Amino acid sequence: MSHLPCIEDAFLIINDLGRIDAFGSMDKCPTASFEEVVDATGRYVLPCWCDSHTHLVFAGSREGEFVDRIHGLSYQEIAQRGGGILNSAKKLQETSESHLLEMAESRLKEIQTFGTSAVEIKSGYGLTPESELKILRVIRKLKEKSNMLIKATFLGAHAIPAHFKSDREGYIKQIIEVMLPQIADEGLADYIDVFCEKVAFSPTETERIIQAGAQYGLKAKIHTNQFNCMGGIQVSVANNAISVDHLEVVNDEEIECLKSSQTIPCLLPSAPFFLNDHYPPARKIIDAGLPVALATDYNPGSTPSGNMPFVLSLACIKMKMTPEEAINAATIMGAKAMEVENQTGSITIGKRADLFITKPIPSLAYIPYSFGSHLIDQVFINGKRMT
Ligand code: NIG
Ligand code: FE
Repeated sequence: MSHLPCIEDAFLIINDLGRIDAFGSMDKCPTASFEEVVDATGRYVLPCWCDSHTHLVFAGSREGEFVDRIHGLSYQEIAQRGGGILNSAKKLQETSESHLLEMAESRLKEIQTFGTSAVEIKSGYGLTPESELKILRVIRKLKEKSNMLIKATFLGAHAIPAHFKSDREGYIKQIIEVMLPQIADEGLADYIDVFCEKVAFSPTETERIIQAGAQYGLKAKIHTNQFNCMGGIQVSVANNAISVDHLEVVNDEEIECLKSSQTIPCLLPSAPFFLNDHYPPARKIIDAGLPVALATDYNPGSTPSGNMPFVLSLACIKMKMTPEEAINAATIMGAKAMEVENQTGSITIGKRADLFITKPIPSLAYIPYSFGSHLIDQVFINGKRMT
């Protein structure tokens, strides 16, 4: 996590296919003539961020709940009163697919300006077969229209919808027997997710849903340990989840469990920032020899922001990660947490030229240090200049 190779005074060549063709120290730069030359003197060139956890297809904002929290209500109390995810689901059910697409496209454009080139996007604000599929079809359209790398995750098990309030078994059956077969039939999801928490699904329910997803070839990425240690990590590891996400609370036993696995801990520090909660114990996790990924969790309830540089600042300021660790966690580890590490996430010959050039800055540590500044000047995705 702490090893970040860096070349001072370097060149980098992008080929016609949008791939990284060569890079190295400037004295080895070929003298051939190029279609375009970008002078990056005094600047840094980094691989783009891989944001492996977002919910960026949503219908409306929830600043009313933000104000309720200022007045003293907790996130969980708001959820228990039928606000929270159910509030977003109601709005989404009333919104057309084309309007959702338009809003999601503008969010994708926004996150590109922050330097993000790969993004995982979850459903989970539909909570009916029709609306869950509507979100996943929007994500499929985004995949077709955008040159970003996009992965889709089915999160039907985000909350028990109001119409199944007294029949949770009925909703779980609907996820497994109605939604999953249709989603698999249309090839709409790459992963399956469950919100494993006291306010949402139990570890036993989580395992049942993960295993149903596995029948259709969907690997798991699980929301767990945001508020409670209740076995979500153990169940995810036992079922070979790609990642366990949130981890604001983690005990020693869970860290040991992660050490015996390939499951990646994915930390989302903007969520506790926004909810005024405690941060994941990143130092304890990394010092135990585990890798971590960093992602935004962009969603209208707990993190209305897709700003990866701000996530890096929080990682360094609040979780005591070093700038090198934070950059690795937000690039190659994020890529691994969405299985695109062979295509992007590092400056490697043959990978996509997903790169950004900073404004002139004195050092790499300056990026997380200068929190809130916009230091990303030019963004290239698959070799194409985006900003
Ligand atoms: O990752 N924790 C569950 N899901 C989202 C937020 C859901 C919401 O409040 O809309 C998260 O924080
Ligand atoms: Fe999330």
